[in-house]
Amino acid sequence: MCGIFGYIGKKDPLKVCMQGLKLLEYRGYDSAGIAALQKGELITIKEVGKVSILEEQVNQLDLQLDLAIAHTRWATHGKPCKKNAHPHSDAQSCIALIHNGIIENFASLRSKLEKKGVAFASETDTEVIAQLIADHYKGDLLSSVHTTLSELKGSFAIALIHKNHPDTIVATSRDNPLAIGFSNDLSETIISSDPNAFLGHNLNVFYLKDDEIALVGRDSIEIYDKRKKKIEKKTEKIQAESISFSKEGFEHYLLKEICEQPFTVQKVLVENLAENGTDAHFPQLPFSSRELKKIDRVLIVGCGTSWHAGSIAVSLFEEMAKIPASCEIASEFRYKPPLLSSNTLAIAISQSGETADTLGAVRKIRERGIKVVGICNVKNSSLTREVDGCIYLHAGPEFSVCSTKAFTSQLTLLSLIALFLARSRKMSEEEGEVFVSELKKIPQKIDEVLKRSSEIELLAKKYSHFQNFFFLGRRMMFPICQEAALKLKEISYLNACAYPAGEMKHGPIALISPTLPVIAFCQNEQTYEKMISNIMEVKARGAPILAFASQGAKGLSSIADDLFFLPSCPDLLSPLISTVAGQLFAYFIAKVIGTDIDKPRNLAKSVTVE
Ligand code: G6P
Repeated sequence: MCGIFGYIGKKDPLKVCMQGLKLLEYRGYDSAGIAALQKGELITIKEVGKVSILEEQVNQLDLQLDLAIAHTRWATHGKPCKKNAHPHSDAQSCIALIHNGIIENFASLRSKLEKKGVAFASETDTEVIAQLIADHYKGDLLSSVHTTLSELKGSFAIALIHKNHPDTIVATSRDNPLAIGFSNDLSETIISSDPNAFLGHNLNVFYLKDDEIALVGRDSIEIYDKRKKKIEKKTEKIQAESISFSKEGFEHYLLKEICEQPFTVQKVLVENLAENGTDAHFPQLPFSSRELKKIDRVLIVGCGTSWHAGSIAVSLFEEMAKIPASCEIASEFRYKPPLLSSNTLAIAISQSGETADTLGAVRKIRERGIKVVGICNVKNSSLTREVDGCIYLHAGPEFSVCSTKAFTSQLTLLSLIALFLARSRKMSEEEGEVFVSELKKIPQKIDEVLKRSSEIELLAKKYSHFQNFFFLGRRMMFPICQEAALKLKEISYLNACAYPAGEMKHGPIALISPTLPVIAFCQNEQTYEKMISNIMEVKARGAPILAFASQGAKGLSSIADDLFFLPSCPDLLSPLISTVAGQLFAYFIAKVIGTDIDKPRNLAKSVTVE
């Protein structure tokens, strides 16, 4: 799983590729590499770790490249090391190839080739593609790639160069995004996993569909379909937004993004609240008012933090709009029987719009003839092209791998969609007005939590010596516990488990001891008394307790070892406040431990493989 980039044109391919790789680094940073043709010779340079390490290396060499392909890797097959880094070659070193995706039948293909005497240099599935193409190659690169595709199972995007074809980059894909952008006079062409990496180039863009092959030359682009018939593609102009890579004085992007939340939440409100102050408006929804009225089920799909946002939204849709709702982990949903009624409102949530499982779930829902609404932060991303209507978060780029501001923007947006559906049904104008006025107070309340971040820092320092954490909450607070535990795992590498507090007595309570702190999220008023009882149960068994509760909540100060009061708000909106405390707690613990907070080990900002 990775980022693919390629350049042929009048500019310096090295510089263009390095800039492109930096913009694709959110797709993985286990290793980076570049392959190029230089005066007819094929050269490959790769380094373990981030793109900056590769950049340092190539800057020391005197390179004058004719064209280049470059790659940033998130390891799937074979550990992150130089020999497994892309680009990969065939045994004769004629081909250099980069790949995003997974070749499911790589083991059988590899053993067939090994029986023919082909020697492999890496553990990757990618090398099999390069070796297969070389095995089929008889002077016609298009034919050898085409034959190879018929043997591959899985999903992939591929770019390759061959030393006998010094003016060509070959690109192909299946179930995996690959954009090709070219200037009007064809003086430059770029290939990229994500068109947002075309930044600074004014290009006409098209996307390769399944098993199409592009032969990108110096002044021509030829496209062939899966039957090897030459075809034309429709193009569009894409405006890649310029991105500022500044931490603006913050030590980490993560802290900067946490602190942006009063503004990003406000932005969602400004974009989507109706002027009457009682409703929201969503012209992007692909439904007529008759279709909207008929909706009898909401299905939400997403992964990671986006899945947590969806889990919270289930309560919003059920309580406000009285529509049965469910939220599914996209990777699980993909392989379930699709029992969907035609009146389902399907929502796919993805910050990046590139998560492979979420895209897979979208395809599965749409195959059933059901429209999908996307909630996404990144313009021009794959999700925005695959859904029937897309609502943007407008939260600005999220650089830290750990998602924070996108989460609160997703929650705010989902609250407004729930309001919109509720108001089109039974919710009165007065009820709508109360909900909107509470929502409008949220940015200020988040700000109040942020202003007291030094108190959370002290708490984090106190708890940072523990190796394991247990997060407990009920109703709206349970997904918040899952999210807080996920933040802690992602950036501190500590074990953190989240449980619905009422379920703890059915097993996990056996874990409780003085070495397992319980972080209790108590902001759900409806279940507050029950939560107190659950906290008493863990206290009786010696757990250190840190509680986050609404200002004025009674009875906790004598039970919890540490107590942090949050601005109070209605239960349905409390996740927007509590989550900020969870984010800061994880951040400050990771800071004490000294991990790579913005780019934690083993992770990627968006996961483009199943
Ligand atoms: C990766 C990221 C998570 C994110 C998840 C879903 O695992 O590390 O932070 O929540 O993908 O990403 P998406 O872009 O689909 O919201």
